[in-house]
Amino acid sequence: MHNEKSISFDSYEKMAEYYFEFVDTKPFNAYYERPATISLLPCVKGKKVLDAGCAAGWYSKWLIEQGAEVTALDFSPNMIEMTKKRVGNKADVVRADLNEPLNFIADRSIDIVLSSLTLHYLKDWNIVMTEFGRILKHSGFLVFSVHHPFMDFIYFNRENYFLTELLEDEWETNKEKVKVQFYRRPLCKIISSVIEAGFTIDKLIEPMPTEKFKELQPKIYKKLTKNPHFLFLRARRGLPDWA
Ligand SMILES: C[S@@+](CC[C@H](N)C(=O)[O-])C[C@H]1O[C@@H](n2cnc3c(N)ncnc32)[C@H](O)[C@@H]1O
Repeated sequence: MHNEKSISFDSYEKMAEYYFEFVDTKPFNAYYERPATISLLPCVKGKKVLDAGCAAGWYSKWLIEQGAEVTALDFSPNMIEMTKKRVGNKADVVRADLNEPLNFIADRSIDIVLSSLTLHYLKDWNIVMTEFGRILKHSGFLVFSVHHPFMDFIYFNRENYFLTELLEDEWETNKEKVKVQFYRRPLCKIISSVIEAGFTIDKLIEPMPTEKFKELQPKIYKKLTKNPHFLFLRARRGLPDWA
């Protein structure tokens, strides 16, 4: 009962409990992705924040603890259950597909959209960027992380960097291996989708892993200091006054 354009639905349904129990402490999340995403967020206290692709709710919980008013969405019912288990009734947790309009969210009602490691599951960013632009207040923030296009290009040994293409990987979980599909697209497409939806990009980072990462996984740490893995971007809705 999900949009036929949506990929990796079954994979995330299978991985919901694994995310709830194990992903919080995985070095790639805890000591690489999360510190970088958090460094891009403005003060969230008292702000209305959409956690778009909430998975098992780590960011939703963190945002609530910082004093934000949170709406969380994900297309996977099992992930929605995990987020509800984590945050109870302290957030609105809604099943929704980012390939479709977010009709349940009013125009200009959100201060910050946070989308961590989710947008690479969408082939077309038109709808999602238009919707983020519609629901955000003027000058509201969009903060997101995605697979770095260079990383996927190299790791999957692709031939044509300029294509947008579907890739498949297999991830280990505590129980089984799960196949996951996602899209790789060139950097210019990532950037132009954001700009064409009326955003002004004000930060883009390719961060280093933290010292804690080094302590836990020194070999991968070394690799990450020479090869970007995720790309992090912050944009504001609307153009500067002088544009
Ligand atoms: C890598 S996880 C996100 C991790 C999460 N933000 C965190 O840091 O814990 C990607 C999430 O995106 C969700 N997702 C993928 N495609 C989606 C879509 N089309 N609409 C809504 N959610 C989607 C998946 O169900 C999954 O929970």
